[in-house]
Amino acid sequence: MTTPSPLSRRTPIRHLLDQATAEMEATVTGWVRNKRIGKNIGFLELNDGSTLANLQLVFPEDGIGPQAAEPVDKGAAISATGKLVASQGKGQSWEMVVETVRVIGGCPEDYPLQTKRHSFEFLREKAHLRPRTRTFSAVFRVRNALAMAIHRFFQDRGFLWVHTPIIAASDCEGAGDLFEVGSGDGDPFFGKQAYLTVSGQLNVEGFATSYTDVYTFGPTFRAENSHTARHASEFWMIEPEIAFADLTDLLDLGENFIRDVSLDVIERCGEDMEFFNRWIEKGVVDKVQSTLSKPFARMTYTEAMDVLEKSGRSFEYPVGWGQALQTEHERYLAEDYVEGPVFVTDYPTDQKAFYMRLSDDGKTVAATDLLVPRLGEIIGGSQREERLDVLESEISRRGLEQAPYWWYKELRRFGSVPHAGFGLGFERLLMYLTGMQNIRDVLPYPRTPGSADF
Ligand code: 4AD
Repeated sequence: MTTPSPLSRRTPIRHLLDQATAEMEATVTGWVRNKRIGKNIGFLELNDGSTLANLQLVFPEDGIGPQAAEPVDKGAAISATGKLVASQGKGQSWEMVVETVRVIGGCPEDYPLQTKRHSFEFLREKAHLRPRTRTFSAVFRVRNALAMAIHRFFQDRGFLWVHTPIIAASDCEGAGDLFEVGSGDGDPFFGKQAYLTVSGQLNVEGFATSYTDVYTFGPTFRAENSHTARHASEFWMIEPEIAFADLTDLLDLGENFIRDVSLDVIERCGEDMEFFNRWIEKGVVDKVQSTLSKPFARMTYTEAMDVLEKSGRSFEYPVGWGQALQTEHERYLAEDYVEGPVFVTDYPTDQKAFYMRLSDDGKTVAATDLLVPRLGEIIGGSQREERLDVLESEISRRGLEQAPYWWYKELRRFGSVPHAGFGLGFERLLMYLTGMQNIRDVLPYPRTPGSADF
């Protein structure tokens, strides 16, 4: 039998601070964020990632002595055992008077996180170490909490989580922004060209037309050469798909979804969200909360163009019926006109994908984008074309081949039903909630054109 490692008795700092009582004895582990050694007393700030706050480790003269902290370098991994006492200092309620300390992994002077503040650009080059900074540790805790809030939202409502494939046989969006897989030198590995998925939607429709309420939550890939702060080559998408439902049902779902998961995260991640509210974008949490307390605005694309034409603003890109809504237009609508989230619906057919349901006017489809302040689009979705003949003619009209969609079309032959769904860009919602301005700073290891370094 092996004896359990003393490290297995460690208490996460978060739990410790939650349950602390005076004189309580505990062992903590983590990485040293700061070190201050005085003549009579020494301090180490310890963080283990369980919470934003550091635990202050005290090395008093009448105990272990400041010299015991001397050999411990900033960045080192350590374990410490001691007693909790009410803190004398500001900003923390408890500190630990250390009785024993052990360096588990030392940290030489060329540790890149030596100074307190680093630019986000610098830290992108250190993606393996940046979770040890305050900002990024908060970002990835909130990212985790948001993912769980999303699953809870759907699971509580009886939605089935479907693991749609990463390797896809067809181009869902028909936009051609695909990474090819399995082509190699000789015969294609899969017998024909395959791709990294741009969306699980087409596959998940087969499950919506079996289980009624379903969703996907997984990575998606786009080979578009966009160098913006909102586009990544690999990002995560959440795609609910509901059967026996039309566009209005979808908007209601989308609104409840965004409101519930956002409030859930704000509540569960109080300390981290307060950090964003203070240091990343002043008042971001208050702003998000106040816009969520009102019903989301809804307007058609035609109304949106009308608003833009009458706005008196000079935009870089032209406005008018038939023009694309660019990010500057989307931001004007959400930020200035509505001052909150807005669903724009009923876009011109030619701007949208083949699967969206053609409206009776013959010019528009039952599509929707959800636009939010600061970012523009975070959701794209639609009611789906459930009529086989219309679907076939829309595939042909776009110059797409019918053959790869044979199975998708069968869903329109065998028990076809009105259904609808949307895709939420996970990182975009995370940016909206935290005020982080670049998608590269909410992805653990971002992949963007020209960059996949870790
Ligand atoms: O609007 P999109 O392209 O919609 C679809 O893929 C549909 N098949 C979804 C559906 O109806 N089930 O993408 C959906 C969302 C966008 O609104 C945006 O938030 C995000 O995915 N997105 C990206 N996020 C980061 N980087 C990119 N390159 C993105 N492209 C889209």
